[in-house]
Amino acid sequence: MTERTANFYNKFSICYPLVDILLKPQKKILFKEVCLLPKGNLLEIGVGNGQHLKYYGKHQITGIDTSIAMLNAAKKYDTGNADLLEMDGKQLHFSDKAFDYAVLSHVIAVVDDPNRVLSEVYRVLKPGGKLFILNHFTPNNCLKYVDKMFEPFSKAFHFRSVFKISELTVLKQFTLVKEVGFGWGSYFKLLVVEKP
Ligand SMILES: C[S@@+](CC[C@H](N)C(=O)[O-])C[C@H]1O[C@@H](n2cnc3c(N)ncnc32)[C@H](O)[C@@H]1O
Repeated sequence: MTERTANFYNKFSICYPLVDILLKPQKKILFKEVCLLPKGNLLEIGVGNGQHLKYYGKHQITGIDTSIAMLNAAKKYDTGNADLLEMDGKQLHFSDKAFDYAVLSHVIAVVDDPNRVLSEVYRVLKPGGKLFILNHFTPNNCLKYVDKMFEPFSKAFHFRSVFKISELTVLKQFTLVKEVGFGWGSYFKLLVVEKP
């Protein structure tokens, strides 16, 4: 699954700037939050084409992705504060408590085992370290039918359109710091959680 997703993103990387236009307004909120924090080591899992790297400001970034094409695109946007590595978020090659912050921006519904990724993030975060999750979450309103309808197509695009926060059982190990909902019916959410 990871390999197929990587192959998909290797081909899709050329079109990703178009998708990014839709995601930009939500990412602005994410970066505003991240930039308020003291300078730290930040891990982004599924860094994608890295167009946003410049918005991380003072932080030292480690960006990982399974798609070489996405990483190659990201290298063009590195302003000198990012290490970009080919790696699977389910199996991080970092020591325990290595990072102050972690970011999962539109990735948690793409990876094939989100709870394993969250467990890995928990391991590599320092106590008190913060994780930012930006994603759509299927709400309990009529939008759930739209997600359901879109499900067969979303598989072709390697993400899950029907995706609920309750599926993220490992999140219980973290403390919720902030939840910001945006879009109709708070379809998109920014979750900020902390490792105790
Ligand atoms: C929808 S894009 C999001 C990119 C970026 N975070 C953003 O917000 O624009 C999802 C990215 O996650 C990467 N990805 C998918 N599965 C992964 C995994 N298991 N480990 C690391 N990256 C993964 C994909 O290659 C792709 O670049």
